[in-house]
Amino acid sequence: MSLILAIESSCDETAAAVIRDRHILSNVIRSQQIHKMYGGVVPELASRAHLEAIVPVVHESLETAGCKLQDMDAFAFTQSPGLIGSLIVGAGFAKSLALSLEKPLIAVQHMKAHVLANLIRKEGSKNPDFPFLCLTVSGGHTQIVICHDPLNLEIIGQTLDDAAGEAFDKAAKMLGLPYPGGPLIDKHAALGKPVYEFPEPHIEGLNFSFSGLKTAILYFIRDHQKEDPEFISKNIDNICASVQQRIISILLKKLKRASKQTGIKDICIAGGVSANKGLRREFEKVGKELGWRTFIPPFEYCTDNAAMIAITAHYKFQAKQFATMEAVPSAKVH
Ligand code: KG4
Ligand code: ZN
Repeated sequence: MSLILAIESSCDETAAAVIRDRHILSNVIRSQQIHKMYGGVVPELASRAHLEAIVPVVHESLETAGCKLQDMDAFAFTQSPGLIGSLIVGAGFAKSLALSLEKPLIAVQHMKAHVLANLIRKEGSKNPDFPFLCLTVSGGHTQIVICHDPLNLEIIGQTLDDAAGEAFDKAAKMLGLPYPGGPLIDKHAALGKPVYEFPEPHIEGLNFSFSGLKTAILYFIRDHQKEDPEFISKNIDNICASVQQRIISILLKKLKRASKQTGIKDICIAGGVSANKGLRREFEKVGKELGWRTFIPPFEYCTDNAAMIAITAHYKFQAKQFATMEAVPSAKVH
């Protein structure tokens, strides 16, 4: 049995979770509101907000779990990738806990953690068997990985330019929606129909590209607004449904190809964009058609959270993969 406290602070969410074996006892997430007025995350403000939030967030996660700091077998933190100032706050906090309580320290890579969110145990839900495929779609990354085992992940496809979350957020910005626009496109899309056809990129193999779509949306808006300045407000639901439909079709096309190439039919999605209702629905539908076993983490484990850091730390603890006090956070994948 192991009890671990994990901290996630890679971007604009301060989060802490306690895990006992593969069961999450608490999962506290505090989203920073300050960035809304700037239309995107301001790194310097993010680090300051982490400093303010980290003590109450860790406190709440221990209280919810009914545990004390002294009960922990290890302390984990997100080492990379992310905003360096934000990562430093979580890393410093976890290090000081590990040092003062003389417990092991565990450094976790954020993108791997998104994938392993699918391995969290929950009553009444199933987990994938190894090897499984995972489409990881977040604000900074878009990848297809083979998870051979919890500590052996192989990237077999990734974006050549923008990430899927970025495509959602940039499209939203062009439509005048506030940051982060992904969830708002999702909301509008549910009320509309995909009546507009955006082009599909032709990229070899299992890689993705979203920059062409971004340009197509820009020209689409410009041309229609020339004829009718109120085009966006009149058609926002249908435009969002069309943009979302194209992003989903790009993602699922490559996922189908990956399953065909590898013969793997246990398939997961992960990362912030996996919270998208349209993607969740289409993924399940395609899965049924092709005989996949599909897995989607609960909403609270899709966008940035510490439960996913905790489950990854659980496996690293079992394998005794500990970090030293010299472990440095890194903006790029470490
Ligand atoms: O994984 P995540 O929380 O943070 C990163 O590691 O980047 O992903 C954030 C991304 C943002 O681009 C956000 O717009 C997108 O996930 N996102 C969504 C939805 N919820 C979050 N995109 C589409 N539909 C959603 N419901
Ligand atoms: Zn993330």
